[in-house]
Amino acid sequence: MIERIADELLSVAQTRIDTMGGCDLFTSFAQALPCRVLMELLGIRHVDAATLMRWSDASLELFWGRPTPQRQLELAERVGEFHQWLTEAVRGDTAPPGSFIASLTRHRLPDGKPLDVQTAVGACFFVLIAGQSTTGQLISTVLHRALAEPGLWPRVAREAGVAEAWVEEVLRREPPVTTWRRVTARPAEVSGVQLPAGAQLLLMLMGSGSDPEVFAHPERMCPRRPNIRHHLAFGTGRHRCPGASLARTEAAVALRAAARSLPGVRLTAGAEEPPMLGLLSFRAPLQVAVESPGDAPIPTASVGSRNT
Ligand code: HEM
Repeated sequence: MIERIADELLSVAQTRIDTMGGCDLFTSFAQALPCRVLMELLGIRHVDAATLMRWSDASLELFWGRPTPQRQLELAERVGEFHQWLTEAVRGDTAPPGSFIASLTRHRLPDGKPLDVQTAVGACFFVLIAGQSTTGQLISTVLHRALAEPGLWPRVAREAGVAEAWVEEVLRREPPVTTWRRVTARPAEVSGVQLPAGAQLLLMLMGSGSDPEVFAHPERMCPRRPNIRHHLAFGTGRHRCPGASLARTEAAVALRAAARSLPGVRLTAGAEEPPMLGLLSFRAPLQVAVESPGDAPIPTASVGSRNT
């Protein structure tokens, strides 16, 4: 299913490259793929992917950004629309059998009672945001870094396992979820620092992948590292990301499909330093501008307002 959607999106991107000389693989592909995949998995109908992406991005900026009071009102309106729409989707009981929404509405608690609507909506709300924007951000970094690495693009298309290993190195070195919050349940000591119960922590997940005591030459992208998965890009413990396998699969499929479908593309001149999403916990290129050699460069403006 992921391959089918990837091929569909890439054939539109190819047409755009043929007719306009280039395209932005972030908006046309990286961002759109996880949204389309989740729509199928969750059984979401009667709303278009662009609306879902707008709702999800608004939620991210509202909860993890630093919006001005006026911007908070705009974002809250979109997030409210999203929540209301999900409530109707859960209440309406129209999701296809076997989908996430249908399973939640049919789920019975140990006492035999159904899950209340608020809880089911909360689960869908969080899974849609957690599974969509983060994976789009990972794919964006994966594509951008792969296109900037000399000789890698043709190898990804040809050699088995290269895409998976590249995705893992990007997760280690430049994960989309850079920090995560925790509250200490009881007094604890971390690296000699005493923490009382109830302390609010911001864990620097991204730094863990560049720890020289764990990874030799952490600054180098080495897809053959023996301990390639010893990073904290998906957190750890009982709240570790349940979508890790899905995200890894989507990113590897996306990279391989792009390298095979668009073998001749390269980053547009000037696209090596793209505008970045820079929220408290999320970081990724907001643009992956590509062109085919010989084509005119595409303009690099027209990106969202959250760049840093
Ligand atoms: C590259 C993509 C992704 C990254 C980097 C990522 C990262 C994370 C991180 C760091 C956490 C917090 C873990 C912790 O507290 O220890 C988390 C939690 C979570 N993620 Fe992901 N995630 C990704 C994709 C997904 C996908 C595809 C889904 C579902 C379809 C998903 C669903 C969730 C959920 C439901 C939680 C909350 C788990 C809990 O609190 O028990 N994530 N993710």
